[in-house]
Amino acid sequence: MELLIEKIKNEGCVLSSSILKVDSFLNHQIDPHLMLEIGKEFAERFADSGITKILTIESSGIAPAVMAGLHLQVPVVFARKRKSLTLVNDLITASVHSFTKEETNEISISNKYLSENDKVLIIDDFLANGQAALGLIEIAIKAKASVEGIGIVIEKGFQEGGRILRNKGYRVESLAILNSLENGIVSFEKSTERKAELA
Ligand code: G4P
Repeated sequence: MELLIEKIKNEGCVLSSSILKVDSFLNHQIDPHLMLEIGKEFAERFADSGITKILTIESSGIAPAVMAGLHLQVPVVFARKRKSLTLVNDLITASVHSFTKEETNEISISNKYLSENDKVLIIDDFLANGQAALGLIEIAIKAKASVEGIGIVIEKGFQEGGRILRNKGYRVESLAILNSLENGIVSFEKSTERKAELA
């Protein structure tokens, strides 16, 4: 996706060989126009999947997920990482360990908002080791909903999340795939750049 790749090239900051900072448009300040285009791209890629609900996780997954929900005309549910005062009963939960942050969160949603009739599209901002996506898949399975696909804004192709999810048979659509962040340089997977050039 050309707009996203340009944004990463212009504004992304390589913090280390494994971490890309994109605070100016995705993780802190949010670029609404870019988010709208990201939502449109996800909606186009999953147009034939019969999606009835989008599932994401707070906080940075929410903006792209809402925009995808807008384009697909379906509701968006976000899993919470912290206990909520009002969300206490009938929770569906999963445990998510972050290797990047070295912490484990119990994530939860209310069982009111996901059912066996739902066809779910999971959306998240980053795919690193795949633990957040696996936690969201676990929640969908517990609700007996079907997972039709996973939409990721930025996949770090040099970490194992994408391989784990694809090996399990899930359709993973990543709008930008990073090959490497070595030597302070962002290198994109060829297919992502080629798609962007053709767009
Ligand atoms: P995983 O789910 O794929 O296993 O990823 P991981 O646990 O490693 O990621 C933990 C958090 O770190 C997630 O955000 C994820 O988006 C973020 N993250 C991982 N790699 C990068 C990176 O290279 N750059 C940036 N900017 N973030 C990265 P989170 O804790 O859920 O934060 P937020 O959603 O509240 O912003």
